[in-house]
Amino acid sequence: MKKSIITLLIVMAMLRSYAIEGMYLPLLLKQLNEKEMQSMGMKLTAEDIYSVNRSSLKDAIVIFGRGCTGEVISTEGLVLTNHHCGYGAIQRHSSLARDYLTDGFWAMNRNEELPNQGLTVTFLVSMDNVTSRVLQGVSDDMTERKRDSVVRLNTRKIEKLAADSSGLTAQIRPFYYGNEYYLFLSETFRDVRLVGAPPSNIGKFGGDTDNWMWPRHTGDFAVFRIYADRNNKPADYSTENVPYKPKYHFPISLRGVEKGDFSMVFGYPGTTRQYLPSIAVENITGLLNPVAVKLRDRRLNTFSAAMNADKEVRIKYSAKHANIANGWKKMIGESKGIDRIKAVNRKREFENRFQAWASEALAGREQFRGIVPEFSRFHAQLKPLSLARTYINEAALGVELLRFALQFEELVKASGGKKQTDEAVQKILNRLLTSSAEFFKNYHQPIDRQLMEELLEIYARESDKAFVPESMQRILARNKNSFKALTASVFDKTIFASQSKLETMLKSYKPTQVTILTKDPAYILATEFNVFLSEIITPETRQIESKLDSLQRVYVQGLMAMQPEKRFYPDANSTLRVSYGAVDDYLPMDAVHYRHYTTIEGIMEKENPDIYDYVVEPKLKQLYLTKDYGRYADKNGQLRTCFIASNHTTGGNSGSPVINANGHLVGINFDRNWEGTMSDLMYDSDMCRNISIDIRYCLFVIDKFAGATHLINEMTIVE
Ligand code: ARG
Ligand code: GLU
Repeated sequence: MKKSIITLLIVMAMLRSYAIEGMYLPLLLKQLNEKEMQSMGMKLTAEDIYSVNRSSLKDAIVIFGRGCTGEVISTEGLVLTNHHCGYGAIQRHSSLARDYLTDGFWAMNRNEELPNQGLTVTFLVSMDNVTSRVLQGVSDDMTERKRDSVVRLNTRKIEKLAADSSGLTAQIRPFYYGNEYYLFLSETFRDVRLVGAPPSNIGKFGGDTDNWMWPRHTGDFAVFRIYADRNNKPADYSTENVPYKPKYHFPISLRGVEKGDFSMVFGYPGTTRQYLPSIAVENITGLLNPVAVKLRDRRLNTFSAAMNADKEVRIKYSAKHANIANGWKKMIGESKGIDRIKAVNRKREFENRFQAWASEALAGREQFRGIVPEFSRFHAQLKPLSLARTYINEAALGVELLRFALQFEELVKASGGKKQTDEAVQKILNRLLTSSAEFFKNYHQPIDRQLMEELLEIYARESDKAFVPESMQRILARNKNSFKALTASVFDKTIFASQSKLETMLKSYKPTQVTILTKDPAYILATEFNVFLSEIITPETRQIESKLDSLQRVYVQGLMAMQPEKRFYPDANSTLRVSYGAVDDYLPMDAVHYRHYTTIEGIMEKENPDIYDYVVEPKLKQLYLTKDYGRYADKNGQLRTCFIASNHTTGGNSGSPVINANGHLVGINFDRNWEGTMSDLMYDSDMCRNISIDIRYCLFVIDKFAGATHLINEMTIVE
């Protein structure tokens, strides 16, 4: 009796994580996931989530801009996404006089909502498995190149047919390295207006210091509205447009979440690589990440020192810093996480088992026997190329001047071409004038000089000698190998160091003057680096990757044949997916236990008026002091800010709705925990958590902080 209780307790302890690995196709939920989701507490059916015949949750999900997700939350086309997804739009409307990034922005009526040129949202209308049509005419003995061309031809034909007959955008995407293909029909809206954004002290609270980390207190949300023409169809911006009437919008729950509650994330995850062999993972996390991290360290340190010394430099470099730091921190976490869960070893052991299975003398196994050794062979070939690419991208082209000079290749090419019209050249000149203005607006030369010296020195010392540009060797030889002299020589002579000279040149440019560019030392150096990429590294990489792709394709077939009971999911590829799991805490290290939610108390704990990332908005502090949380407080009167759950997410899931068992919105996804960032390569249910803003904090900021109660009034609130 006692024994069985103990066994039960052990089993329960093992089951304590409610995590479900995977990002599933909404179309296949019925078949693969519905039962399990319901057993975890979900009250919905698969048809409620994705249906082509009636409105379903998917009709409230959009691809927001380039690479984020958003969700519709009113009958009037109101959309929620992350502050960091709306950042560009908010920044473009900002100036010193009206600094919406710093102070926030709230349209108090429809007329005040701000249009954003180029910003779009896309709804999925339907998806279908078109594998057999795409693979028509493909046979096993075809070369990879032949297969590609057949697939490409079929794809174009099917897409065109689908687009013509539906009037929608049609796109086919491969899954499982081309074992399956799905057709996506979608509709893109082009008039998307900014409705509201909190000040950065809320929307970016904790900044890069807290980025990728739990416990978190960031109010990372922004509000937009979709506009359509009078027929509710997509249209370019016009004052005649009216708020879009969606097929579905999310009701918002004020009930909050507790540990163990079912949770689901519905959005557009970008890229994962779950099926890579051990050797590939080892190359990424053991070699490429550390090199990139080291080189980014240099850049970030140099940026930071200058930013701390000068407020103007801070403004100029904050977006660049955030961008570089985001990837930098992700890579550090990913490498650590892979080490911690011994992913490379686990994969290697699995590959041994796979090899043994493939070697059994059974019909149909032969095709799988060569895969693991071939992986090793091709990844060994790929390794030096990937490393060289990392050095060029992170060191050489980490010098802003060089990256900028590279943009002028287009002009050089156009200047030589006989077929180029004056008009075409003029177009390029106009574009370059715009880029030039943008470049110099956020450029601080002393930073870049220092970095050129440091980064090229590391480059020359560490990277493959075959990829050291001739012009660089020549100048170094003339100057006793001094990188200071190299840097000075480039900066003193290049036209790209002076905005006025460069723009004067562009304004009066004639194709006959092309030598101004082709003899420029920065241009020469930059293009030499780029030639290594475009003429050697990229083509060779492509060739190897095409072989690896076909290996991966057969490998996945093998995995499925070897584990017929296992449920598989395709890698993320920026198509609509459902991840589900539960609200859950975790144990990040020995003796430390992280609770599953944070509160406004934590904002006050972190407050530090001297540290940019931790300045607390006075108005927020006021609301805190008077505990004026209204109906957004939890049952203990506390205001919760963020929570974590075990949903398997990745970049692109930013802004995704986090949905409870009833299909109501309870949060907005915006990040992952640092200990879990390896989930793009291998998911671990003990460590991987997605981070969401508690929807009640979001509504509190809209309502109590910003006084934009009219927005709350158009939402469907479930008390
Ligand atoms: N880590 C999140 C993502 O990958 C948020 C990035 C933006 N926030 C920041 N502090 N840089 O996109
Ligand atoms: N912040 C990420 C994004 O922009 C989401 C975090 C993640 O990678 O999971 O999509």
